[in-house]
Amino acid sequence: MTNYLLLLCTLSALTLTAQQTHTAFTPADEVWTDTDGNHINAHGGGILLDGDTYYWFGEHKVAGSGGNKAMVGVGVYSSTDLYNWKNEGIALKMLEDTSSMLQVGSVVERPKVIYNDSSGKYVMWFHHELKGQGYKAALVGTATADRVTGPYTYHTSVRINPGVHPRNLPHWRLRALGVLLDQAEEEKLGHKELGEIGAFSLRDHERGQMSRDMTLFKDDDGTAYHITSSEENQTLLVSRLSDDYLTLTDEYYRVLPGERNEAPAIFKQDGRYYMISSGLTGWAPNPARSAVADSLFGPWTDLGNPVRGSEEETETTFHSQSTYILPVAGQPDAFIFLADRWKPKNPIDGAYIWLPLEFEEGKPVLRWRDRWDLGVFAGGVGE
Ligand code: GAL
Repeated sequence: MTNYLLLLCTLSALTLTAQQTHTAFTPADEVWTDTDGNHINAHGGGILLDGDTYYWFGEHKVAGSGGNKAMVGVGVYSSTDLYNWKNEGIALKMLEDTSSMLQVGSVVERPKVIYNDSSGKYVMWFHHELKGQGYKAALVGTATADRVTGPYTYHTSVRINPGVHPRNLPHWRLRALGVLLDQAEEEKLGHKELGEIGAFSLRDHERGQMSRDMTLFKDDDGTAYHITSSEENQTLLVSRLSDDYLTLTDEYYRVLPGERNEAPAIFKQDGRYYMISSGLTGWAPNPARSAVADSLFGPWTDLGNPVRGSEEETETTFHSQSTYILPVAGQPDAFIFLADRWKPKNPIDGAYIWLPLEFEEGKPVLRWRDRWDLGVFAGGVGE
C-alpha cells in the first residue's frame, strides 16, 4: 500500500472512531462526544423539546482556569434520541461591544429556554454577572429568538422584583420584626438567620432582589415560572412570568427561607411539583436535597437527600450538582436527572451526570449507573 493509501485508511478509521453512535448514557465516562466526536460543551444546561427534537442549551466553557467566564456564549445541541447530540452552534453570542452588559468575559450561567405558544418566540433566561465584578451583580438576563437554535437577541439583565414585596412576606411583618440591617446586626445574626427572617428581602427591596442559580418551569397550562437562588443565596424566590415570558409579574414568593438552596431543578408528576437542589459550596459538590409541593409557590416539604449509594456518593451527589430534570417525551413517569461534574481547573472538561429518576415511598431517588438506556423506564423505576 502506498503511504497515501495508508494515510487515507488511518484517517477514515479515525473518523469512524470519532463519529461513534451512542446507544446508552454512560455517566462513568468523563467524555460524552457529540456527533462530530468532540466533548459536548453545554454546562449548567437545560433542555427544550421542540417537535420531536430535543435541544440542549448550556454554558460554552473554554480551556484553562479562566474558562468559567463567558468568552463565547450559550451553546445549543440537538438530538432525537437523547444519546447522540449534534452541535448546532452558539445560540446566544457574547458581544464584543464593551458598553454592553453582555460583553465577552462576563459570567453567563444556567441558561434555560422555553417556547411561548402565543408569540412564537423562544425565550432564554440565564444567570448573568457583570464583567470584573465577581458574583456581586446577581442579575438575570433574557434573550429571544424566532428559531430554536437562534441566533438569540439579547434583551437586558436585571435585579428582580424591584419595589415589590414577596406575597408571603408583607412589609408590615418585616417592620414588626424590627429588623435592623446595619453591619453589626448582620454579623451578630449571620446570613442564615437573616435569610430566614427576610432581612435581605427588605435590604434589596428598592434595588431589586438578587438572582443567581436559576431555572424556568413551564406548567401544563402554559404559565411559566422563574425559580432562583436569591437573598445572598439563603432563600429561593419563585416568580410567575408575564404571558409573553419576557418579564416577571409581581406575583412572587419566598421559598425555603434560610435553607440555602442552589442549582434548583423542577419536575411535575401527578399534579405535584418536585425540586432537587444543592447546598452552597461553589464548584465543589455537596449533598443534594429534594422537596415536594402542591404549588410552585409552596409550601415546600423537605424530602431529604435523594441519593441512595455509598457515603461518598451521598455526600457529593456522585460528584455533581443538579441543573435540570428532563421529562422523557411520551413516557409519563420517566424523568432524567441532569447534573454537572464541574472541573474548575479546566472547565471545558466538565462532565455530565445523567441518571434516571426513581421513586420510592413518594420520594424521588437517584442511584448510580455506569451505563443505562431509556429501556429502564419500560421496566418501571419505582412506584
Ligand atoms: C455554584 C453554582 C454555579 C456557579 C458556581 C460559582 O454553586 O451552582 O452555577 O455559580 O457556584 O462558584
